Amino acid sequence: MTEAWRPDGEDERRGASGPVKVRVPAKVNLHLGVGPLRRDGYHELNTVYHAISIYDELTARRGDTLALTMEGEGTGELALDDTNLVIRAAHALAGYAGVLPHARLHLRKQIPLAGGLAGGSADAAAALVACDALWGTGLSRDELAGIAADLGSDVPFLIYGGTALGTGRGEAVSPVLVRPTSWHWVVAIADVGLSTPAAYRELDRLRKAGTAGAPLGSTDALLGALRQRDPRVLARTLGNDLQDAALAMRPALADTLKAGEAAGALAGIVSGSGPTCVFLAADAADAERVAAGLTSAGVCREVRVAHGPVAGARVG
Ligand code: C5P
Repeated sequence: MTEAWRPDGEDERRGASGPVKVRVPAKVNLHLGVGPLRRDGYHELNTVYHAISIYDELTARRGDTLALTMEGEGTGELALDDTNLVIRAAHALAGYAGVLPHARLHLRKQIPLAGGLAGGSADAAAALVACDALWGTGLSRDELAGIAADLGSDVPFLIYGGTALGTGRGEAVSPVLVRPTSWHWVVAIADVGLSTPAAYRELDRLRKAGTAGAPLGSTDALLGALRQRDPRVLARTLGNDLQDAALAMRPALADTLKAGEAAGALAGIVSGSGPTCVFLAADAADAERVAAGLTSAGVCREVRVAHGPVAGARVG
């Protein structure tokens, strides 16, 4: 066994000496096609991920141990111990690269917990990118995405960002190459989160009972709409197989979806496993109007305006 590289003395030049700050976005699924339950407990997915401009920020400093502090969304609720995905990511990178997992990490969270926006996965991606820079381990994005896949199905996508196709259980990611267009979103954040495994279990139950909607299937229509760059066309192709499950578990989300459309959104869907709802607006001014309408309807805890696609976890 080789001795772990120590971030001190001469070798310190390999990594950053000052703090490393990484910004990482939230994700929505423009298309979330859920296939059958696999033997490993995951569902086969056919999804189009899209990174939007709601960010968490992770700062990594040199330290003698591995420690995590936080502020913002979920403070006091989110465990900061070895179960936290940030700590698990730091350990995973250190193990892969053969270095000591020493860092003082501070998370500033704006992405809500259990919201269907992949906040925990985003933080894991941020930790991989931040510790890679701090420790000077110099891994490529593809290598980081390989480590990310073991941490969670959405983590590889958040290393890359942009708009990307996800297959397998979501961890196999390939970029969607379209001419850059900025899409405008309004994000309605609920009071209380929803559990992702519970949403998948509910979908299995609805399908067994024959009361789930028809599965979405192929991403072709959505990909074609992205190429047309017309939000009215994109609006018609957004879809989420987990939406029925989220609505069954949280019927009040139907009011949130209705309120967004009444406020002028082109379309609204539940984001991932919910309960966050995202609405597509025609342009930035429309997004502000939809946000104002949703806020006055009082159907959620908080409303934010965002745009996408944006880059994945990045230093600076
Ligand atoms: O991969 P991740 O840890 O984020 O997944 C959380 C849970 O969501 C899994 O344990 C599983 O219950 C469910 N899931 C699934 N199929 C997927 C992704 C997640 O059933 N493709």
